[in-house]
Amino acid sequence: MIKYANFVISSPDVAQCPSGLIAGSKPAEQRYIPEYAFIGRSNVGKSSLINALCHNPKLAKTSQKPGKTLLINHFLIDNKWHLVDLPGYGYAQAGQTQREKLRRMIERYCLLRQELTNMFVLVDCRLEPQKIDLEFMNWLGENGIPFSIVFTKADKLGKDRLASNIDIYKRQLMETWEELPPIFITSAEKNTGTEELLAYIESINATL
Ligand code: GTP
Ligand code: MG
Repeated sequence: MIKYANFVISSPDVAQCPSGLIAGSKPAEQRYIPEYAFIGRSNVGKSSLINALCHNPKLAKTSQKPGKTLLINHFLIDNKWHLVDLPGYGYAQAGQTQREKLRRMIERYCLLRQELTNMFVLVDCRLEPQKIDLEFMNWLGENGIPFSIVFTKADKLGKDRLASNIDIYKRQLMETWEELPPIFITSAEKNTGTEELLAYIESINATL
């Protein structure tokens, strides 16, 4: 369980993000605070899941309307690692210029953020696999960025429907991927799946 979760800063670009460099490490052996980011379509529940993980409903700003998070938000967890809330991609009503701006912000963050340890791609468990998510995952793969898939809003489906949707998703992934990424099933509303997610993050931290 997370003990301390503190908001650090909101940044409009990766260039302004807080340095995760651990003081004292020599240039040749630079060490960084591990960083984990939540990404996905607008309104999928990124900010809500961060709040559920941290047991603080006010930590990250959430909204029923898509397009709430528009900056790169850093949270320091237990003084050991960063959790990052990113803006959503693909919000149709946002307008071309805004969408393009967010797309660049996200892409630059993914490609340039050396601290980034693992990306969590959030997908709504109620929907069939969406092209925009699959394309984004392929893009992460092409760029060698490790990621996991997190199904959100599991409370909205019955057990059988949930299992069958996840099965459909896995089959779709296996058409392009040789190996499936780690998959988590969560609900921010019911606080399910959050301990598994944390255990996974801690297991990666333990290897660094
Ligand atoms: P943007 O910042 O706009 O990209 O959205 P986001 O992905 O951060 O979504 P946010 O966390 O703001 O949640 C969007 C809406 O979904 C809100 O109305 C939340 O209450 C709702 N929501 C999020 N997670 C869950 C969940 O696990 N279950 C249910 N039932 N609703 C959820
Ligand atoms: Mg958000």
